[in-house]
Amino acid sequence: MNISILLSLALVSPLFVLAACPDYAQFAKELHEPFSSGSYNLSYMRPAPECRTFVSQSVEDTIARMQSVIRDPDLYRLFQNAYPNTLDTAIKWKGYANGTDEELTFVITGDINAMWLRDSANQMQSYLPLLNASSSPDSLASLYRGVINLQARYLLTSPFCNSFQPPVESGISPSTNGAASQDSVYPPYNSHSVFECKYELDSLAAFLEVSSDYYTATKDISFFAKYSWIDAIATVLDVAEAMKTPTYAANGSVLPSPYSFTRQTTRASETLENNGLGNPTQNGTGLIRSAFRPSDDSTIYQLFIPANMMFSSHLSATSKIMALLNTTHSSSLATRMETIANNLGTAIESHGVITHPKYGRIYAYEIDGYGGETVMDDANIPSLLSAPLLGYAPASSQIYQNTRALLLSADNPYFMRGPVLSAIGGPHIGPGYAWPMASIVRIMTSSDEKEIVEELGAILGSTDGFGLVHESVNSWDGSDWTRQWFSWANGLFGQMVLDLEGRMPQVLNISFQRGQRVGGY
Ligand SMILES: *[C@@H]1O[C@H](CO)[C@@H](O)[C@H](O)[C@H]1NC(C)=O
Ligand SMILES: *[C@@H]1O[C@H](CO)[C@@H](O)[C@H](O)[C@H]1NC(C)=O
Ligand SMILES: *[C@@H]1O[C@H](CO)[C@@H](O)[C@H](O)[C@H]1NC(C)=O
Ligand SMILES: *[C@@H]1O[C@H](CO)[C@@H](O)[C@H](O)[C@H]1NC(C)=O
Ligand SMILES: *[C@@H]1O[C@H](CO)[C@@H](O)[C@H](O)[C@H]1NC(C)=O
Ligand SMILES: *[C@@H]1O[C@H](CO)[C@@H](O)[C@H](O)[C@H]1NC(C)=O
Ligand SMILES: *[C@@H]1O[C@H](CO)[C@@H](O)[C@H](O)[C@H]1NC(C)=O
Repeated sequence: MNISILLSLALVSPLFVLAACPDYAQFAKELHEPFSSGSYNLSYMRPAPECRTFVSQSVEDTIARMQSVIRDPDLYRLFQNAYPNTLDTAIKWKGYANGTDEELTFVITGDINAMWLRDSANQMQSYLPLLNASSSPDSLASLYRGVINLQARYLLTSPFCNSFQPPVESGISPSTNGAASQDSVYPPYNSHSVFECKYELDSLAAFLEVSSDYYTATKDISFFAKYSWIDAIATVLDVAEAMKTPTYAANGSVLPSPYSFTRQTTRASETLENNGLGNPTQNGTGLIRSAFRPSDDSTIYQLFIPANMMFSSHLSATSKIMALLNTTHSSSLATRMETIANNLGTAIESHGVITHPKYGRIYAYEIDGYGGETVMDDANIPSLLSAPLLGYAPASSQIYQNTRALLLSADNPYFMRGPVLSAIGGPHIGPGYAWPMASIVRIMTSSDEKEIVEELGAILGSTDGFGLVHESVNSWDGSDWTRQWFSWANGLFGQMVLDLEGRMPQVLNISFQRGQRVGGY
């Protein structure tokens, strides 16, 4: 077929274009020309323009501008591939709720055809530096509104679930989740709207995060009064308060749990102890339970500190939106939000801080209120390392610094070390696999130039020639890695580079070529 027939077919037939565009899951496993000119020889990983799922002129302008800011050709290539990854590949559908002007955006996580509350909020956050007020359907603002509206719908339907199916309006068929098909979950859910139903406190916090990000950048207050946002927030608060329920009543009887989950699996982290209740939690801490972590692995102790930090911080931020909606209902919700957020902050500082024999006062990863605690961190956000990014603790706080010193050492059972990449990992992929995402968070929470340059170099060296940020990399074998298409980590890398441009531009103006770092490093 010659090129003009191809073009005319593409014009008349959207189906033809879809058929001609490669599946990115496959595309991302292959190397593509042109290769970057440095010693890392990185592949070009953006799909052809006509195959990209959303085009934002401000993102394209930023990619072009950064070519003169990032001196190293390989580092620039990684930025060029990674930053637009969600827009290029993951905006699976964008439209309107049936018969209304309510925008909806269905954002897939990458290689899995479903929308996670956490991932989609963070996938949007990559573009926060470029977000401004706009009513245009081609704008980043429209994408954000669509994500907030669709998340609100999901939360109103199944507020304990973490991952969801395409909206019916899209006409896209729901995916089959083989792992979830035999799950026993309370409350029950419908697999036509839910992809997986793991209750994770940070999923609720993600809705607050994407809402406050949108408001902060656009000041578009009227949007929040228009659709289901207020009702979704009320649902979030109900779930959070219900999940403070301890295991036992004062008289010793076992209290009914608002949530339970079991799965048939060979992995301990894929199901919950005690027939789906999880390990017992003591009354009186004021912390909110989370059955699963942001890695989608089960918690050991349910009072999971990083998600409580994230929830408290973003609840406080969104209470200010609610307070501006000027109805009796919204005012009382705003007060309720502020109270919960403040109480949670107090609860974290009273119960989430423990004394370690070597590092002194540190944040525990999880506690149960009986004295049980896990001392560790996992790469997925929210993590303890990311506390400053969550808006919870300033990086300068002594407790954070003590915690950080432990987390970035062999005293953290999930700090992976080796010649390819030394970084925090987690039980999701297991010992030996470091997560580049944790190196990115390390950079974003550091003001130490030497540390930042070392981490940038390590991330750059961890892509196995693909020029994309992988989920995890074997610390001892760079050709052994997981997930070729993980949009969140890619967007986060771009967000980090833009952050460095603002606060430490000199680290982008050096060479990262093997064996010849220029700039005094
Ligand atoms: C870069 O990698 C590609 C794909 O492996 C290879 O064909 C090419 O020769 C490499 N270029 C250089 C300069 O090493
Ligand atoms: C928002 O950003 C876009 C792209 O950078 C720009 O064209 C537009 O003028 C901006 N709008 C406002 C209101 O600042
Ligand atoms: C949209 O609304 C129309 C009219 O109410 C109804 O017939 C149709 O089934 C709806 N479609 C979806 C996808 O909900
Ligand atoms: C938990 O503790 C709070 C505060 O001390 C108390 O009001 C509440 O009744 C207790 N609930 C249970 C189930 O023990
Ligand atoms: C024990 O406490 C629970 C919760 O407050 C209550 O529902 C139950 O009736 C109590 N049982 C007895 C025997 O008092
Ligand atoms: C509520 O009132 C404040 C102060 O008068 C105003 O700034 C804000 O825009 C109002 N909110 C709405 C949704 O109209
Ligand atoms: C980048 O570094 C070069 C030489 O090391 C210097 O001449 C140039 O001014 C620097 N550019 C910026 C934007 O700092």
